[in-house]
Amino acid sequence: MQAAAAPMSLLTAWQFLVELGHDEPNPFQDSHHSPAPLEGKTVLVNGAAGGVGHLMVQVAKWKGARVIAVASGRHEALLTDLGADAFIDYTKQPAETVMQDVDLVIDAVGGSNMERFLNVIKKGGALYLVNPLGFSGHEEAQRRGIVVSTAQVRSNGAQLAQAGRLLDDGTIRVVIDSTFSMAEASAAHDRAGRGSMQGKVVLINE
Ligand SMILES: NC(=O)c1ccc[n+]([C@@H]2O[C@H](COP(=O)([O-])OP(=O)(O)OC[C@H]3O[C@@H](n4cnc5c(N)ncnc54)[C@H](OP(=O)(O)O)[C@@H]3O)[C@@H](O)[C@H]2O)c1
Repeated sequence: MQAAAAPMSLLTAWQFLVELGHDEPNPFQDSHHSPAPLEGKTVLVNGAAGGVGHLMVQVAKWKGARVIAVASGRHEALLTDLGADAFIDYTKQPAETVMQDVDLVIDAVGGSNMERFLNVIKKGGALYLVNPLGFSGHEEAQRRGIVVSTAQVRSNGAQLAQAGRLLDDGTIRVVIDSTFSMAEASAAHDRAGRGSMQGKVVLINE
């Protein structure tokens, strides 16, 4: 049931952090994305409470990272419960003003000014962009010795089975923001449009 609630978000976290698992051309960069080892690393997840972000937090923890979650304040209790080691409320202090020397930043939001995260990352570290459209910091990243990488999720049954075992044994869980019937699809769409998502919106086909 949990994997059914978030198959593509779960696979996105898996393919960014565990194993890409396919040879399809990357529409955003020349080379394939290659997940870095996370054991003992410090990982900052921006958009940590969202559909993709809350699974990135948990998969990074499972891979042995120390995780800093960045989200608006209402998500702090959830993210601590999901295993985040530290929390930054971006509405009170921008992450780039309080963090430095991070090994990996995962931006699970996208939009403007993703380049600011380069200031947070140590030389030899990496910036993973879940939505890379508009990122203009490639030259600066190269100067600083930071790898910038992205991937586009693909369906993959074997990976879902592997990740599903982590759901089954409680290592990770899918958080449900809200649930709607098919007849309420329009309300579900409105919910997604309001933003500040905490996990996934579920549509039930009754
Ligand atoms: N590469 C791929 O294959 C792939 C796959 C799936 C999704 N995506 C992309 O990934 C992105 C996230 O998707 P999603 O489904 O996780 O979205 P989502 O569920 O709407 O989550 C976005 C989260 O970001 C937070 N947020 C909004 N503005 C923020 C800001 N300025 N700083 C920090 N957090 C902020 C929101 O809550 P708060 O503001 O309350 O913290 C929310 O929890 C989208 O751009 C989507 O297109 C890419």
